[in-house]
Amino acid sequence: MKITSAKYIGSCPRQDMCPQTGLPEYAFIGRSNVGKSSLINALTERKSLALTSSTPGKTMCINHFLINESWYIVDLPGYGYAQRGKKAMEKLKNMIERYVLDREQLTCLFVLIDIRHDPQAKDLEFLEFLGENGVPFGIIFTKADKLKPAQVKPFAEKYLNVLKEQWEELPPYFITSSANKLGREDVLNYIDSINASIQ
Ligand code: GTP
Ligand code: MG
Repeated sequence: MKITSAKYIGSCPRQDMCPQTGLPEYAFIGRSNVGKSSLINALTERKSLALTSSTPGKTMCINHFLINESWYIVDLPGYGYAQRGKKAMEKLKNMIERYVLDREQLTCLFVLIDIRHDPQAKDLEFLEFLGENGVPFGIIFTKADKLKPAQVKPFAEKYLNVLKEQWEELPPYFITSSANKLGREDVLNYIDSINASIQ
């Protein structure tokens, strides 16, 4: 799929304040610093469409980007970032849950996982929550450029093997790097195929 236009529409602190558009939405979530905003920039080939930072906790709102005037990318805050205190964490958790469960336009939620790390309880719990609530999702492994090329597949397989212990069927998954655009086409083609099937 070719991205011909990508526009920042706005940031909302709550799901019920998000734009009412009826267009399909693809949202990106995962732990703080996993590379959500960077991946959005890589997918759209826009350097600073979504704001990135080496300090975790950069994205604190629900951010909408209109793509090709026909679907949305949504950048969500990271979960599991404890630095901001208990109250702020609760607020973020609630914002994320309400968006994920109540947003009718949400077509697929991409859960980002740093390919270098062993499965972490927070991620596995979140995936379980999605499964229990019937939320359509895919997994995107990020930062593959940080591994030697020969390590990439074994690291992803190791992670997926842990998921297989819990899940009868694996979700769709993608191996990506925002640094070298690995997996960009795969993710975009997946989105394109869903958009075509719901038109
Ligand atoms: P929050 O909004 O804070 O939750 O973080 P985020 O998940 O949006 O992460 P962000 O895109 O801001 O990236 C965090 C850091 O990881 C930045 O320093 C990025 O440059 C770096 N990074 C992101 N993706 C990649 C990647 O594919 N490869 C490499 N080498 N670095 C990456
Ligand atoms: Mg971010």
